[in-house]
Amino acid sequence: MDKNKIEQLRKIKQRLYLGGGIDRIEKQHAAGKLTARERLAFLYDEDSFQESNLFMRHRCSHFDMHEKEMPGEGVVTGVGMISGRPVYTASQDFTVAGGSVGEANAQKIHQVMDDALKTGDPFVFINDSGGARIQEGVDALSGYGGIFYRNVKLSGVVPQISIIAGPCAGGAAYSPALTDFIIQVRHEGQLFITGPNVIKQVTGEVISAEQLGGVDSHAYYSGVVHFVAENDREAIALTQRLLSFLPSNNLEDPPYYPPAGDYQIADDPSLNTIVPDDPKKAYDMRDVISRIVDSSDFLEIQEHFAPNILIGFARLLGRSIGVVANQPKVKAGVLDIDSSDKASRFIRFCNAFNIPIVTFVDVPGFMPGVDQEFGGIIRHGAKMLFAYSAATVPKITIIVRKAYGGAFLAMCSKDMGADRLYAWPSAEIAVMGAEGAVNVLYRKDLQDSDAPDELRNRLVREYKETFANPYIAAARGYIDDIIEPAETRSILSGSLEILKAKRELRPQKKHGLIPL
Ligand code: HXC
Repeated sequence: MDKNKIEQLRKIKQRLYLGGGIDRIEKQHAAGKLTARERLAFLYDEDSFQESNLFMRHRCSHFDMHEKEMPGEGVVTGVGMISGRPVYTASQDFTVAGGSVGEANAQKIHQVMDDALKTGDPFVFINDSGGARIQEGVDALSGYGGIFYRNVKLSGVVPQISIIAGPCAGGAAYSPALTDFIIQVRHEGQLFITGPNVIKQVTGEVISAEQLGGVDSHAYYSGVVHFVAENDREAIALTQRLLSFLPSNNLEDPPYYPPAGDYQIADDPSLNTIVPDDPKKAYDMRDVISRIVDSSDFLEIQEHFAPNILIGFARLLGRSIGVVANQPKVKAGVLDIDSSDKASRFIRFCNAFNIPIVTFVDVPGFMPGVDQEFGGIIRHGAKMLFAYSAATVPKITIIVRKAYGGAFLAMCSKDMGADRLYAWPSAEIAVMGAEGAVNVLYRKDLQDSDAPDELRNRLVREYKETFANPYIAAARGYIDDIIEPAETRSILSGSLEILKAKRELRPQKKHGLIPL
């Protein structure tokens, strides 16, 4: 072959690899961001990335687009290996037309998403874009429509992770919203539907872009974002860590990582004293979890949103588990609207991807309050019951302390399909707390009594002696065993080993109707 042809190919490719060119790359770096390709170099195992459609470019002729020198498209797409497993990606290239999404740009993204579905491999979308390409009008909208449609088709088949590494505004924000996990980079990542200017025009409210679409807004208040990263490198490292807990698709099991060093399932006597004697005293449920899982390695999700419940991934003897746990340190671990939403979504993710669910219970009940009732706690709390009941993966529940009322059921009691339910001796299982119960049961006696306080104290003590322990529930068969806290790790591991073979068939239907 004419060697000039080889030279020409090399030259064209080199030019395309530079995206928007040196100046724009420098601008990108000056803005604290890596380029689309640099991000992928960190994401993938060395030399494993296979790029697709490098040469593709727009065919728009409006607004002098045909005259603009535009090398390739504003997105790098392809597949590579992460810890030896294939993962597809679309990494928006802000140096080319601001990473804006037009017809060709979207087609590149559609193609990798279709490929991810074909081979059953996860999809990682790195967002850094000005949104729909304005010059391409309805073609740009259609392009986004195709992305959303595929996000939904992929949902529950392969894990989807979005990184918000730059702007992601307007309708574009709905692609990350349709994926399983969102990682937002502090400062550089911006995520909102309508920007500060529009909000000011429409409602008169004044807010900065950082306040509106930054990590604090989404990690603490909206709950849209699952992880905050300080920079691109950290976001990529988080993506890799997250993927290590997940199977490539819904037909596989998560990868097995035998624990280094702690193969023996030693008892941890410190667990026997971790729950304070005073039932009103708080403790950090994270201390319980970290003493039980492999290498104390717990990847907490949505750490700052609804912190009265903890969710996250860990491993037991090398196998992934999803952990759901009340956090007595915050609002006494009560279930409210946001914590119900947070946990239910996670339970459904674990179920879709064959990850057993381990639930730690210390819950005083559902949150009372007008705002909770008006906000629909009935609808949101019901999601917990729905998600647990519908989940067919192995489900193991440990009652650590309080398990009161409907919240006892909503934290996966045996009636909600828990395969094993264990209680620590500190467990208290009852319809409601002692004071409330005595007030209802003995209102008349207390009214008529000459010494109502004395009587109330005695009745509360009696109620507690009857119900503030796990023995009645165990006698009725609602608990499989009352265990020493120190043995929890070995008992959980043993149960999960047996439950690996669990098969549960449900009636065929299109889908259930979770109360959204
Ligand atoms: C076409 C765009 C673009 C867009 C940015 N660019 N966004 N081109 N369509 N949506 C171009 C700019 O013209 C510029 O090109 C280059 O990208 C870099 O942009 P800058 O503005 O110089 O960068 P910066 O100052 O960092 O500002 C970034 C930005 C701003 C905040 C994202 O570009 C911006 O506000 N863009 C418009 C955002 C927007 O309104 N998008 C549409 C949203 S509606 P040159 O050649 O001049 O360097 C939407 C609907 C989706 O997305 C609906 C889907 C359902």
